[in-house]
Amino acid sequence: MFTSLLSQSLLPAVVSPVGASWIDTLVALAYIVAAILFIRALAGLSKHETAQKGNNAGIFGMGIALVATITLALTSEPERGVLVTALLIAVAMIIGAMIGIWKARNVEMTGMPELIALLHSFVGLAAVLVGFNSYLAPDAEAIALGGFHLGEVYLGIFIGAVTLTGSIVAYLKLSAKIKGAPLMLPGRNWLNLAALVVTLVLMVIFIKEGGVTPLNTTLLIIMTVIALAFGVHLVAAIGGGDMPVVVSMLNSYSGWAAAAAGFMLNNDLLIITGALVGSSGAYLSYIMSKAMNRSFISVILGGFGSDGAVTAGDEEQGTHQEIQAAEVAQLLKDAKRVMITPGYGMAVAQAQYPVADLTRRLRDAGVDVEFGIHPVAGRLPGHMNVLLAEAKVPYDIVKELDEVNDDFENVDVVLVIGANDTVNPAAEQPGSPIAGMPVLKVWNASDVIVFKRSMATGYAGVQNPLFFKENTKMLFGDAKASVDNILAAL
Ligand code: TAP
Repeated sequence: MFTSLLSQSLLPAVVSPVGASWIDTLVALAYIVAAILFIRALAGLSKHETAQKGNNAGIFGMGIALVATITLALTSEPERGVLVTALLIAVAMIIGAMIGIWKARNVEMTGMPELIALLHSFVGLAAVLVGFNSYLAPDAEAIALGGFHLGEVYLGIFIGAVTLTGSIVAYLKLSAKIKGAPLMLPGRNWLNLAALVVTLVLMVIFIKEGGVTPLNTTLLIIMTVIALAFGVHLVAAIGGGDMPVVVSMLNSYSGWAAAAAGFMLNNDLLIITGALVGSSGAYLSYIMSKAMNRSFISVILGGFGSDGAVTAGDEEQGTHQEIQAAEVAQLLKDAKRVMITPGYGMAVAQAQYPVADLTRRLRDAGVDVEFGIHPVAGRLPGHMNVLLAEAKVPYDIVKELDEVNDDFENVDVVLVIGANDTVNPAAEQPGSPIAGMPVLKVWNASDVIVFKRSMATGYAGVQNPLFFKENTKMLFGDAKASVDNILAAL
């Protein structure tokens, strides 16, 4: 797909530069190099070992793309003057870079998903603004395209507006500024369908009418309002446990919004980059939906198909037993096989370093230690893997859910460090908000130690029956302090 995209959108500009200046040709070449580097970046990011190289390729590609695009902007606006254009670009870049650097330095690892959601909303907003600009002030090429240009403007604004409000709702949910529970409006699927049908009908009238007319401006504004409301509804209808898939899906939407902006701005690299982000985000959403046993279609359509009859509850379901760090140390000394299942709480406590120390100490003492990683443990894909790699835990003992789930019977002690939803047996009960989601079956081990600070629920807001099982003991306190105490007792 990428090669065909490359050839369709970039090559004609290079191969037949009739009327194009040498600068246009150089820029087209630079865009091809940047596009190849972006593809290399994606390929590199698919494995731990090559992730750093992939990231460097992406940074290098983006550097080339920026220089090429700025050169194009400086040379293609003769009437405004190079200096004024350069000044405008510099001011925008300095303000953007300052905010970006400040945010990147301050964001906690646990705050990444909400930051990503917020950044997606900017892409959506940009597509809406580019769309209106392109509609109100089309250039000669856009006018020559006629109905096709109007179609791309209409779709670009629609995708951008859905991405804008959908991402803002995701940001509010992820940062717990609004409730994570799904909004279940009566007839919500019909509302979604009606919004899509009206949008399509308006699009046909919009293109038939043609040009910038009062009717078309009104239609565009009505569609934008519908799309903004559609974005809110789509994400509001999705429950806490499914948010990871939604963030990845909005990532994909932001890619398509960028591609639409690329069509409107006639910028081939933006089309390619948008398509790369759009398709890789869609594929990641698909993989995550599969990993969580969710219907991909249902999640992209805002929970379409689920009857909404969920029974959430945070009330306690029996009595729990407590344990102290010294007793856990003794259990670990006596164990032959230990499995650690980390979750969001390990990230909050930054406990990965003492956990890595504990792993080393136990392995040196001849205990077989492994990690069982749930695909959505933490708050972003690969969250736990990044933390453990940071603390130098060897890759080969970090296993995925499928690799360990049938093996808990043979484990002596499971340390559930700051995980909750990902080890919740309620997922096996129909009607639970996390029903159907695969979970780590830690309860099959001989002893289960849960590290957390209270009996509070996890992200999905569902109480965890694991805490009340006979072979489960609660080790209350901050996860880092608890692991430090165990290390001291060992
Ligand atoms: P959660 O279900 O969120 O549970 C984390 C637990 O950690 C909480 O019960 C909390 O209990 C405990 N905790 C928090 N701070 C702690 C600290 N300093 N020390 C010790 N414990 C601490 O985590 P999970 O099992 O990793 O599940 C992830 C959830 O997030 C899933 O529902 C998933 O769908 C959702 N989610 C995932 C992603 C991705 S892509 N991974 C993105 C968004 C949302 P206390 O408050 O009692 O300590």
